[in-house]
Amino acid sequence: MKETSNTTKEKKTHTPMNSSQLMKLFVDELKDIYWAEKALTKAIPEMIENASSLELINALTLHLEETHEHVERLKQVFELLGQKPETKPCKAMQGLIAEAGEIMKSCEEGPMRDAGIISAAQKVEHYEMATYGTLRQFSETLNLTDAVVLLAATLQEEKAADEKLSSVAIDTVNVEAASEAV
Ligand SMILES: [Fe+2]
Ligand SMILES: [Fe+2]
Repeated sequence: MKETSNTTKEKKTHTPMNSSQLMKLFVDELKDIYWAEKALTKAIPEMIENASSLELINALTLHLEETHEHVERLKQVFELLGQKPETKPCKAMQGLIAEAGEIMKSCEEGPMRDAGIISAAQKVEHYEMATYGTLRQFSETLNLTDAVVLLAATLQEEKAADEKLSSVAIDTVNVEAASEAV
């Protein structure tokens, strides 16, 4: 019994990193977020078109540029792994983008819709933060130093975007929406 468990342990220790279970999961999740980021390059412009607050428009416009960069960084991560960039539909992001569309439709244009856009956009940012936090950690364990740097850079921009959206909401949009009658 003891021997069997030792043998199993030894086998696991000698699994090459690039064919490990964690590597497979890493690549699968990269495909998922690659799909999600590409979808966001189309979804954020719709949010910008629907927004009224100049501060919100500016925050979303900056993050749209960053999102294009996130797509490029993911291509570089695939390259580091010697893989062609591939997408896998991300059901979570499909849902978040669909929800953003519903919010924009159901909210009156102006502060109310802006508050709704921020609420939807922050859900997106938190999904991305969770994903990039996980992927950065996976790449650390897998000793993919260059991938760690790329994924950490994107994670930082997702966090900054989330904080910026919070301040736009707190400073102006939510206050204005609270003073408007339905
Ligand atoms: Fe992103
Ligand atoms: Fe983002």
